[in-house]
Amino acid sequence: MSGVEHQPGDPYWFDGVAQFLGTAYLRNAFTKGTEQEVDFLLGALALEPPARVLDVGCGPGRHALALARRGFDVVGVDHSPEFIRLAREAAGREGLAVELEELDVRELDHTGEFDAAVCLCQGGFGLLGGRDEDEVFGRIAATLRRGGRLALSAFSAAFALRHLEATEEYDPATGVLHERATVRDPHGVEAAFDLWTTCFTVRELELLAAMAGLTVDAVHGVTPGAYRAQPPTLDHHELLLLAHRP
Ligand SMILES: C[S@@+](CC[C@H](N)C(=O)[O-])C[C@H]1O[C@@H](n2cnc3c(N)ncnc32)[C@H](O)[C@@H]1O
Repeated sequence: MSGVEHQPGDPYWFDGVAQFLGTAYLRNAFTKGTEQEVDFLLGALALEPPARVLDVGCGPGRHALALARRGFDVVGVDHSPEFIRLAREAAGREGLAVELEELDVRELDHTGEFDAAVCLCQGGFGLLGGRDEDEVFGRIAATLRRGGRLALSAFSAAFALRHLEATEEYDPATGVLHERATVRDPHGVEAAFDLWTTCFTVRELELLAAMAGLTVDAVHGVTPGAYRAQPPTLDHHELLLLAHRP
């Protein structure tokens, strides 16, 4: 194993990627299905405005802003200063009253305030490098009032292994998928970054939910922009956990 890195050295490794990407993040194909994802989630979580919703790892705010446009009372948190700046700028342009906070999910302490929490596309849970996920999951669960609902998507370990590419390495000890990827900034300038995505099984998500005192309603197999109520297969990129606080 010498010379092979299996975990990021820096717990905030994604901040550098976000700083470089800036608005180019929203050019990624996986960000194009926001409205479909929100439509599905509102039905699955039985949410109606003006419910109070927390978006954990909100990035530049695509779900947070979409929810605010529909009349929800939204708080978005993210560690990346650049993504929070972009989210605030977009909210300001549209006159949306979204609360956007620069915060490490490891320090989340909004206890019992929310009707729902969403944590999507790894947002603040799947980029922790194979450390602290149980504690962070507990903190996210604790933000919910009794009866409050959670939707959390996580990269599927089954998909990662079945579709492992030559440029990727999967560490079975931590469940972290490591990839050296070339990304483009808003001007098309390219740079290579290490990406570390923690992968999960259905069972792990169910156990994390149970440990955090949540009742699991479903774990669906989904692909960004194509959220549906369907059992996970080996070809679904992500697992979508739906749970509630009893
Ligand atoms: C792939 S992006 C997803 C963003 C957004 N949820 C979406 O669907 O577009 C993952 C986000 O998690 C954030 N993140 C990573 N580690 C975090 C941490 N420790 N605390 C808070 N946010 C974190 C990143 O800054 C990034 O915005």
